[in-house]
Formats: sequence, structure tokens, C-alpha cells
Amino acid sequence: MGSLCLVLVVLQLSWSMSSSVPPSSSHLCLPHQRDALLHFKTTISVDCDFYRDGGYRDDPYPRIDIESWNKSIDCCSWEGVKCNNVTGDVIGMDLSHSCLVGSLFASNSLFQLHNLQWLDLSSNNLRGSLLENTSSLFHFHGLQRLNLADNGFDGIISSKLFSQFVSLTHLNISYNGFFDDTESYLRFDGQGFDMLARNLTKLRNLVLDTVDMSDVALTSFLNLSSSLEHLSLSWCQLHGEFPTQAFQLPNLKVLDLSGNENLAGYLPNKNWSSGLELLDISECGFRGSIPASFGNLTQIISVGLEGNSLEGQIPDVFGNLRKLTSLSFSSCNLSGPLPITIFNLSKITQLDLSYNHLEGPFPNHVSELQFLEELWLSYNSISGGVPSWQFTLPSLLQLDLSYNKLMGPIDRIQKPSPIQEVYLSYNNISG
Ligand SMILES: *[C@@H]1O[C@H](CO)[C@@H](O)[C@H](O)[C@H]1NC(C)=O
Ligand SMILES: *[C@@H]1O[C@H](CO)[C@@H](O)[C@H](O)[C@H]1NC(C)=O
Ligand SMILES: *[C@@H]1O[C@H](CO)[C@@H](O)[C@H](O)[C@H]1NC(C)=O
Ligand SMILES: *[C@@H]1O[C@H](CO)[C@@H](O)[C@H](O)[C@H]1NC(C)=O
Ligand SMILES: *[C@@H]1O[C@H](CO)[C@@H](O)[C@H](O)[C@H]1NC(C)=O
Ligand SMILES: *[C@@H]1O[C@H](CO)[C@@H](O)[C@H](O)[C@H]1NC(C)=O
Ligand SMILES: *[C@@H]1O[C@H](CO)[C@@H](O)[C@H](O)[C@H]1NC(C)=O
Ligand SMILES: *[C@@H]1O[C@H](CO)[C@@H](O)[C@H](O)[C@H]1NC(C)=O
Ligand SMILES: *[C@@H]1O[C@H](CO)[C@@H](O)[C@H](O)[C@H]1NC(C)=O
Ligand SMILES: *[C@@H]1O[C@H](CO)[C@@H](O)[C@H](O)[C@H]1NC(C)=O
Repeated sequence: MGSLCLVLVVLQLSWSMSSSVPPSSSHLCLPHQRDALLHFKTTISVDCDFYRDGGYRDDPYPRIDIESWNKSIDCCSWEGVKCNNVTGDVIGMDLSHSCLVGSLFASNSLFQLHNLQWLDLSSNNLRGSLLENTSSLFHFHGLQRLNLADNGFDGIISSKLFSQFVSLTHLNISYNGFFDDTESYLRFDGQGFDMLARNLTKLRNLVLDTVDMSDVALTSFLNLSSSLEHLSLSWCQLHGEFPTQAFQLPNLKVLDLSGNENLAGYLPNKNWSSGLELLDISECGFRGSIPASFGNLTQIISVGLEGNSLEGQIPDVFGNLRKLTSLSFSSCNLSGPLPITIFNLSKITQLDLSYNHLEGPFPNHVSELQFLEELWLSYNSISGGVPSWQFTLPSLLQLDLSYNKLMGPIDRIQKPSPIQEVYLSYNNISG
């Protein structure tokens, strides 16, 4: 029986291999697309030691070696190239982290591959104002995923682009621009982002970190697709009042607005995106208080609110945030008592409430916080004693209670602790 099974497995394997790999004589690749790829290869070079941003890239070798592309092999078998297995059209290219150096303009033969569905050129050293001059890119009607992140592309992002890329679900153009003798960034003009928001109705991931959006009207965000799941806009020079509705997009999981110092706004009082997992609005200009509805973010994993001009108490609503691992309300001008339910977070590893005006004593007894590694509470007005649980949490490595109003001797420590750094200065601790 055993050997019969083995024979069947071997037969099955050889059958599936012969049907999925075309015989080497049959070239699936279309000659004009192969020639376009070979021409693209001649326009750029491969150099893993290329000096960029004042340092060498740490990529040890090209992830995809386009030097290996040659005519004697079917282009559908080239590294980084994916063809439709029936028509032979090139439908996908992933050349990320491949040490590509050079200028890439819209006139490049690469853009003759009209059937591309995804193109990933991220983390190379490519330059050019690719998204400015779009006549060739206009043929990419079926493009679903475009990743040009972490290169040296610059120029203005054309508003015309987004009347054509209507199938896009993923767009990542973060971390572009170059900074040697001149500085040059990717930039949306006033209309560019508005068109994107109106026209790209299938968009799920929009990643624009460090793209200059200073000319973008924040009302454009009202038109963003309700299918959006990931919106990342850190360090984009956004300014004005951020529309609260963006926190209520029904499918949103990630919202990162960090580092937009002139971006004001308020957190919503109700109807947060219920699936929100990551919220980072650190180093912005948000005002108002933290609403009680925060306690409804049951899927939340990470929250960064540090460096905003919030006020009032932290609502004591953490009881249902069972997935939360990282929370920072540092430097937010918050006052009132320490919220007790925060000491009941079962997954938390980093908790930072430093640089506020928080008061009151610690709870005497804490049974959760089993995974807490870092607890930052300095520069507050916390009073009462230092309870011994802080030295017996099984994972705690760093504890900063300095600049508070803590008093008295520290409770007797009963259990060994892995703690490495403890700061207690500027309190009234004795004993
Ligand atoms: C061809 O591609 C389609 C869609 O990706 C896939 O479902 C199918 O199994 C493939 N056929 C072969 C023979 O590889
Ligand atoms: C083409 O590539 C294959 C595999 O990388 C290599 O063995 C062969 O020598 C190459 N041929 C030419 C003409 O470069
Ligand atoms: C823009 O396109 C025109 C016409 O195809 C071309 O002459 C010009 O060099 C292109 N400029 C850039 C920056 O790609
Ligand atoms: C966007 O691209 C950058 C650089 O390749 C990458 O680190 C990041 O994970 C990408 N973001 C998304 C959401 O795909
Ligand atoms: C996309 O934007 C253009 C303007 O550039 C507009 O004329 C067109 O109707 C829009 N298309 C869709 C599908 O929304
Ligand atoms: C864009 O938003 C404005 C204002 O909310 C609205 O009037 C308009 O209908 C929206 N357009 C689209 C295409 O959703
Ligand atoms: C909140 O959501 C409910 C149900 O999804 C909806 O009926 C209500 O209009 C929303 N309220 C606001 C202020 O968006
Ligand atoms: C939390 O959600 C529940 C159920 O969706 C709702 O009844 C309640 O009003 C919400 N609480 C707040 C403070 O928004
Ligand atoms: C901090 O909050 C108080 C009110 O609680 C307010 O008077 C003060 O202006 C706030 N400071 C900043 C920097 O926002
Ligand atoms: C902490 O959680 C436990 C169970 O998970 C619960 O019984 C207790 O009431 C909670 N305490 C607070 C202050 O939320």
C-alpha cells in the first residue's frame, strides 16, 4: 500500500510539473515585450555600492539580478518578471532592492508593457520626474499596484495621472527625492491629490510618506475611497484642519499622520473606523481631548499621540483594548488621574505617559502587564508610594518615574526581576 501511494505521488508530481512548466522550446514571451525589457536594461546600471543619502546601501547584492536577463532564455522566466501564462503578456515586475541606478523617464521602453498589473521598483536609486510626464504611463489602464518608494524620483505628480490609473489598489511613492547639491522632492500640486481622491475608487493602500503635500486642500480627504485600509502620510507638510471623517473610513486599519507639525484637528467623538489597528498622529497639532469612544477601538494594536496639544483627562476606557501593545500619550498636556484600566492591559509592551500633568497614586495591586517592557511616567505629578509590583513585573526592563511627587520607602520587593534601568530621581523617595 505504502509503495503504491509513493508511485501515485510521483506520477502526480511529474504530471503537474510537465503541465505547468512549458517545454523550453516554446517561448511564451512576446518578442516586442522582451525587446522592451532588454532596452530598459540598457538604460540603467546595477551598482550595489552606489553612494546615496550620505551612506552606502546595506543591500549586499541585488535581490533580482537583471544582468542575467538575456535573449537565450524565455523572458517569462527571467528573474523578477511574471507573464500571463496564456497570452504571454508581461503582467508583473518586481525589481525592488535590486541596486538599479539611473534615470527613468516616462519615455522609457518599460512603459510599453501595457498589460502590467503590478510594478515594484522600490528601494533602488532611480531618478526622474516619472509621474510628471505621463503620456506613456497613460497606457497602464490595468495597473493595480505601483511601488516606486525609496528612490530618488522627484517632480510634480500630474493630476492627469489619476484619470488613467483607475484600477490602482496599492500606491506607494513614499521616501523619494534627492538631497545632494540641490534638494528635490516629489510633490502633489493642488489638483493632483484631489483627482487621486476622487478617481481612485478601488484604492486600498495609499502610502505617501515624505511626499510634499503642502499644496493639498484637506477637504480632498473627504473624497477618499471607502475601500481604503492603509493611509500613511507622515512628514508630508500637511497643514490646516484634518477632516474628522478620515478617522471614520469604514475599512481603515492603519492611519499614520505623524510629523505634520502644522496639521490641526480633533479626534472623533464617535464612529471611529472599527477595525483600526495602528494610529499614529504623533508630532502634529491635534487639539481637544481624548474622547471616550477611544475605548471602542477593540482591534487597536499601536497608538502614538505624543507631541500634540491635547488637554483634559485620559478617559478610563482601556478595558476592552485587549490587543494593544504600544501606547504613547507623551507630551500631550494631559491632566487628571492615571486611568486605572491602563494597568489592566494584558498585551502592552510599551507604555509612555511622560511629560503630562497626571496625578494621583498608582493602583496597589496589578495582575496584568505581564509583557510590559518599558514604562515611562516621568515629568508628571504622580503621588503616593512606589508599589512593589513595578519591580516584579516579569518582563519590565526600563522604568522611569523621575520628576513626580512619589514618597516614602519603596515596598519590600519579594520576587526577582529582570529590570535593567530604574529612574526615581526628583521625587521624595526615602528608605
Ligand atoms: C495560469 O494562471 C492562472 C491565473 O493566475 C492560474 O489559475 C492557472 O493555474 C495557471 N495555469 C497554469 C497551467 O499554470
Ligand atoms: C544567459 O543566461 C544564462 C543563465 O543566467 C547563462 O547561463 C547564459 O550564459 C547567458 N547567455 C548569454 C549569451 O549571456
Ligand atoms: C516628456 O515627454 C516629452 C515628449 O515625449 C519628452 O520630449 C520629454 O523629454 C519628457 N520629459 C521628461 C522629464 O520625461
Ligand atoms: C512602501 O514602500 C516602502 C519602501 O519599499 C516599504 O518599506 C513599505 O513597507 C511600503 N509600505 C506599504 C504599506 O506597502
Ligand atoms: C477622473 O478625473 C478626470 C479629470 O482628470 C475626470 O474627467 C474623469 O471623469 C475622472 N474619471 C473617473 C472614472 O472618475
Ligand atoms: C467629493 O466630495 C464632495 C464634498 O464632500 C462631494 O460634494 C462630491 O460629491 C464628492 N465627489 C465624489 C466623486 O465623491
Ligand atoms: C455613525 O455611524 C452610524 C452607523 O454606521 C450612522 O448611522 C451615523 O450616521 C454615523 N454618525 C456620524 C456622525 O457619522
Ligand atoms: C461604543 O460602541 C457601542 C456599540 O457600537 C456604542 O453603543 C457606544 O455608544 C460606543 N461608545 C462610544 C463612547 O462611542
Ligand atoms: C495645557 O492645558 C491647559 C488647560 O488644561 C491650557 O491652559 C494650556 O494652554 C495648555 N498648554 C498647551 C501648550 O497646549
Ligand atoms: C482587569 O481585568 C480583570 C480580568 O481580565 C477584571 O476582572 C478586572 O475587573 C479588570 N480591572 C479593571 C480595573 O478594569
